[in-house]
Amino acid sequence: PTRLLLDVDTGIDDAVALLYLCAVPEVRLEGITCTAGNVGAAQVAANNLALLELAGRSGVEVAIGSEVPLVVPLVTTEETHGDQGVGYAVLPAARQQVSDRSAVEVWVEAARANPGEITGLITGPLTNFALALRAEPRLPMLLKGLVIMGGAFNYPGNTTPVAEWNIHVDPHAAKEVFAAYRGLPADRLPVVCALESTERIECRPEHLDRLSRSAGAGGELLSPDDPEGLRSSNPNRVIACVSDALRFYMEFHRRYDQGYLAHLHDLFAAMVATGEATATTRPATVDVETDSPLTFGQTVGDFAGFWKQPPNARVVTANEPEKVFGTLIDRLARLAAD
Ligand code: BDR
Ligand code: CA
Repeated sequence: PTRLLLDVDTGIDDAVALLYLCAVPEVRLEGITCTAGNVGAAQVAANNLALLELAGRSGVEVAIGSEVPLVVPLVTTEETHGDQGVGYAVLPAARQQVSDRSAVEVWVEAARANPGEITGLITGPLTNFALALRAEPRLPMLLKGLVIMGGAFNYPGNTTPVAEWNIHVDPHAAKEVFAAYRGLPADRLPVVCALESTERIECRPEHLDRLSRSAGAGGELLSPDDPEGLRSSNPNRVIACVSDALRFYMEFHRRYDQGYLAHLHDLFAAMVATGEATATTRPATVDVETDSPLTFGQTVGDFAGFWKQPPNARVVTANEPEKVFGTLIDRLARLAAD
């Protein structure tokens, strides 16, 4: 099995990523830790617990992490993800409670107990992981690998002209994380899914329609061109949840002139972690701006060796978006059928 430990700020695309991971039989979720980002950490935990229950995967430990970034105050983005973080989806409260352990304890204990076995996947700000690294600096060598959604390299930001959201929420944490990977062997370096690759993962009504149809139960979108139409006629709760969440996310993207679509950043990172997505990477030395008011939160990648520093990341430079949707639809349709 692929053993994954997640740190997320669920979040619509985090939610789709989590449902996808629940739908892959080869994936063993070792735990989910919650970081403040799209919404507060407690809301993130409530969302994760509800999604696990929806997917029939209750029992996976969900632990709360830091409620605030390392240095700067927390900024959340209900505008992008809805008040609860899952758009128009309404998730019933889960029966399972959050863990007594902290996010840091979960990461450190899991990695120490299973050296070289567990791959980390982080789809929110890097606050929890930076704190875990302070507690256990050998984490990069204890983990099998690490996949991060964050940053933008030679590509516009989505939060400021140069900064991507996850990094912008806690740039100090991101800076610490990349610093911790300096000088490590190439196969240990985090695989970074930044905006130039994740914004290619454009989910459109057509994909939801395909999902709804392949999940059976007579499902099709009522009217794919009409925003209200994204309410799937499919009675299945997984399909309804995904449609209602993504309808909100698509409306958000349309408001910012990006078209009636949704970028599924975190889903792509999840598929890189499972090995189901194609991802070509390039080694880079990555650093994060934390001082300049103008470029605060910008990730800078040296791909050409200007700084004469060893690479500390592998940045995704090419991917195959349609393959991602083919896999997503296939996996979620089966989850919905279970
Ligand atoms: C990232 O920001 C969040 O809003 C999304 O969930 C994703 O992790 C994209 O910049
Ligand atoms: Ca996220």
